[in-house]
This record gives sequence, structure tokens and C-alpha cells, in this order.
Amino acid sequence: MIDNFIAKLPKAELHLHIEGTFEPELIFQMAERNKVKLPYDSVESLRKAYQFTDLQSFLDLYYACMNVLRTEEDFAELANAYFEKASKQNVVHAEIFFDPQAHTQRGVPFSTVIDGLWAAIKDSKKNFGITSKMIMCFLRDLSAESAMETLDQAIPFGERIVAVGLDSAERGNPPSKFADVFAKARAAGFEATAHAGEEGPAEYVWEALNILKVKRIDHGVRSMEDAKLVQHLVESATPLTVCPLSNIKLRVFDQMKDHNIKKMLDAGLKATINSDDPAYFGGYIGENFRSISEALDLKQADLKTLAMNSINASFLSPSERQEYLALFASN
Ligand code: ADE
Ligand code: ZN
Repeated sequence: MIDNFIAKLPKAELHLHIEGTFEPELIFQMAERNKVKLPYDSVESLRKAYQFTDLQSFLDLYYACMNVLRTEEDFAELANAYFEKASKQNVVHAEIFFDPQAHTQRGVPFSTVIDGLWAAIKDSKKNFGITSKMIMCFLRDLSAESAMETLDQAIPFGERIVAVGLDSAERGNPPSKFADVFAKARAAGFEATAHAGEEGPAEYVWEALNILKVKRIDHGVRSMEDAKLVQHLVESATPLTVCPLSNIKLRVFDQMKDHNIKKMLDAGLKATINSDDPAYFGGYIGENFRSISEALDLKQADLKTLAMNSINASFLSPSERQEYLALFASN
């Protein structure tokens, strides 16, 4: 019954790395097509490697697999494969992260990445009934200078990119490192969001808010360790894009029943449910909803709040948000 309710809920996905939707079958197909050698000899042996001890252990594999993405067609195919899956789970809107530096660093031109993704994104409504936007993330374990060069490459494509974000290895790479980059991005008209409080401390969430002036926090589960921060996030109605299956796979929490998202909702935080890197973490947005709802015994009202929060937290215009919120009248 609850599974049916979850399936029917209209959902916005706000925390989804397109490179994290790369399924092993497609990785091998592209490796063959592009004549790239993978350090695994089969889909099964690659899948067996999906045992992570922390964020870095995942990132090592995530960057290795994306090495097979080479052409515009590859990027378009990757995004279309995601849209097809998401449409079956009633995702009505998706704001998709991409990591340009992970591609430009290995010689793939910025324009190949952005043109390939755009080919899928511009037609996602027509082809899959999903509106979509692109969010360009900076890799926080690279330098601020590299992020600034990437921003300069993105500015001519500003019409296609709604926001900038910050991802990759969090510990030891505080948001403050990117103060100038985010100031320039905001001045150029980009919205801003940042991963903070996933593995890193609540202090990084404060920095993302006060220094990078982000509108949303990606993950943010460790905000709950700081009562003043929780109060601030509640008063400012700042959305948090929480990713339950990711948090278990990367050992942020030991088990799903230890997850703090229900406590977040009860504290008045604008939490949302998202899939982060679904090909690696055991499921897409529907599986995330089902898993957390079963572990924490969430009721239909909680699930509806989470889904409505995702629409309200999106970078859509107020009138577009209203159109999607009207879909909840029948839920
Ligand atoms: N890049 C892809 N997934 C990520 C995550 N969960 N945290 C930080 N960077 C990421
Ligand atoms: Zn993420």
C-alpha cells in the first residue's frame, strides 16, 4: 500500500550526480565502443567492487568508471538512460549535477560534456515528461584556481546551467576555500548550492551558508549536531537534499533505522529525499523513499511532506512550482 503511495507521489530530484547513474552494463558497453580498458573484466566483478568504507573509497571507483565517457553521444546516452528510469518512478522535475573537471582533467573538452548533456536535457520534457536543469559542481579536492577556470568556461553557457555546486572529498576541503569562486558565480547569475555536513562537520554547513551564500545544503545530515544551526536552517527555511541509501553505503549511518531524517522533519527542517549516485548505492529515488519509509515507519503525511518539500526547494519559478504542487491535491 505504502509502495503504491510512494510510486504515485510526484517527486523532484534535486541531488543526483549524472555520472553516478552510470550502470555497469552501460559502462562496459561504452568501454567497448570507445576502446577503453577497465580495471574489471565483467559487469559482475565491477558490481562486486561496490563495497565502500567511506566517501573517498566510493569516489575512487566513481572517477575510474567515468573514464569511459568520451563523446557527446556518451553524455547524452547517460542522461537519457537516467530520465527513462526516473520517469517510471514519477519524477516530474530533476536538477542534475555534473562534474566537468572530472572530464576536462582527462582531456575531454568542456563543450563535449555540456553539449552532450544538453542534448538530453533540452528534450527531457518532450521525451520523458520530466523538466530538468543542470547544476555544475566544482571538485572541492582540486584548487580554487581550477574551479575559477571552470567557472570561466561555464559563463558562456549560462543559459543552460541554473546553479553551481560543490562536491567530492569533503573532509579537509571547507567551503571557505571557494569563497571567491562562488561570489563570482552568484554575480554572474548562477544560483548556489553545496555539499556540506555529509562527512564534514556542522561548521562546513555554516560556511556554505555564510560564505558561499548557498540557497540549499546537499546532505546536511550532520547539521543535527548543532542546535543553533538547526534553528537557523528552520528559520531561513533552507532546504536539505538528503540521500538515505548513499548515507548507508558510505557509512554516514550504520543502518537505515539510525538515519536522522525523521528527526530533521520533526525539528521543522525542509528535508527532501534524493538518490545521489543511484547506480552505486542500490537504488533510485523510489528505492530511497521505500527504504527510509520502511526503516523509520514513515507515514503517508511524512512522505507527502518530503515530496512537496522537493518541489518547493527546486530552482523552478514560483508559477512552475505551483503547477507541480497542484498535482498533490489528489494524493
Ligand atoms: N560526488 C558524487 N557523489 C558524491 C557525494 N555523495 N558526496 C560528495 N561528492 C560526490
Ligand atoms: Zn552528492
